[in-house]
Amino acid sequence: MKKIKVGFVGAGWMGSCQMQRITERDDAEVVALFEKNAERGKEVLKSLGLSENILVDDYQKIIDNPEIDAVWLVSPNSFHAPQAIAAMEAGKHVFCEKPASTLFEDHCREIELSEANPNLKTFVDYILYFDTMEEHLRKMVASGEFGEINQIQINYRHPVNIAGDKIWKLDQSIMGDAIGMGINHAISVMVFAMASQANPVAVYATSQNPHIRGFEADPVYNIVVKFDNGATGFCFGNIDHGNGYDAYHNFSGTKGGFVFESQTDRTHKVRYWSEKIADGKWIWPLDPEKCKADGVEDLVWPEDTTTPDSGDVVEHQTGECVGHFIECIKNDTQSPMGFVNSQLIAEIGWAAQMSATTGKEISLPLNKDEARAFFDGEAGTL
Ligand SMILES: NC(=O)c1ccc[n+]([C@@H]2O[C@H](COP(=O)([O-])OP(=O)(O)OC[C@H]3O[C@@H](n4cnc5c(N)ncnc54)[C@H](O)[C@@H]3O)[C@@H](O)[C@H]2O)c1
Repeated sequence: MKKIKVGFVGAGWMGSCQMQRITERDDAEVVALFEKNAERGKEVLKSLGLSENILVDDYQKIIDNPEIDAVWLVSPNSFHAPQAIAAMEAGKHVFCEKPASTLFEDHCREIELSEANPNLKTFVDYILYFDTMEEHLRKMVASGEFGEINQIQINYRHPVNIAGDKIWKLDQSIMGDAIGMGINHAISVMVFAMASQANPVAVYATSQNPHIRGFEADPVYNIVVKFDNGATGFCFGNIDHGNGYDAYHNFSGTKGGFVFESQTDRTHKVRYWSEKIADGKWIWPLDPEKCKADGVEDLVWPEDTTTPDSGDVVEHQTGECVGHFIECIKNDTQSPMGFVNSQLIAEIGWAAQMSATTGKEISLPLNKDEARAFFDGEAGTL
């Protein structure tokens, strides 16, 4: 079996974790690393049992290496798009950390290149997709267990990690906007969970200045998403302050509802009701004792069910997302998180910025000319 050869970019907090997951596989290998901080690059390679000789001092060397099948981008945000575009122009598959772009012009170019090269597999790391609770939720919505969903709330309140040299996250020219810095996780959960029932058609948003830390871009967003079946989604996003990781979910439908609370003990984190499968009674699927007492043992979720309640990347589903992208390449399939397939999630982010500035509701799909006129039409540089 031919191994997928990866050119890795950015071996920081998230990057070193993902690189480790690649090295644990037997169908992929890291054959080159571009890391601006050479000392860190060497340390990470050594800790993973890889040769220091694969460290390169210029991104161009990744692009020019004909041996490399896929480029894995875990650099700071503003580099993602220029690096992804150069990789696709060189005929390489692209794994991209979120956000896929910090400039609208680059977003358009990524979509254009993906559409012109469907053989190239792309992926934006909306990692909550791989959380097993989110899988349950998507299946339950799709099988009508909550009837028609009309109201959704998802929070992303999480003081993002700016420790040490992760201080770049305060700098707007590198971080981009706060939605791309993490609030898009909540948006992705909402869009993927609703995908079986409805599509987003408009966005209204407000934003606020930082209150605690020195973010240059507004770190607080309140985003309303309208769906084409009349449902409305709401996202409280805050990357500035909070107490721990708050990815609260509340889905309400005509025949049931679902609530997830990050900040409570495991047995109480998830509860739902469904006329279809539980006679309309509230069920706590992570509480086997209560399910037993209520006579619904068959509705208990497995012990290894994961829930989205940590901001620590080491506890994220990195193994699953790495495996998913490698499988997409091997099986010649595009991921639901590919640049084209996930473009509506990115568009909600652009639309929210436009709405927060203009005070107007913005329709989806985005009118590209209007968006270009709003954003300044600049493209990023490597
Ligand atoms: N999907 C998720 O849940 C998740 C979680 C954490 C971080 N992230 C994303 O991962 C990326 C990295 O975040 P982090 O927290 O690991 O930051 P980090 O600062 O720890 O890592 C970034 C690394 O990139 C290196 N670097 C700087 N400029 C570079 C360039 N031009 N090319 C290549 N490498 C460069 C830095 O030296 C550093 O080692 C960000 O885009 C962030 O949004 C995603």
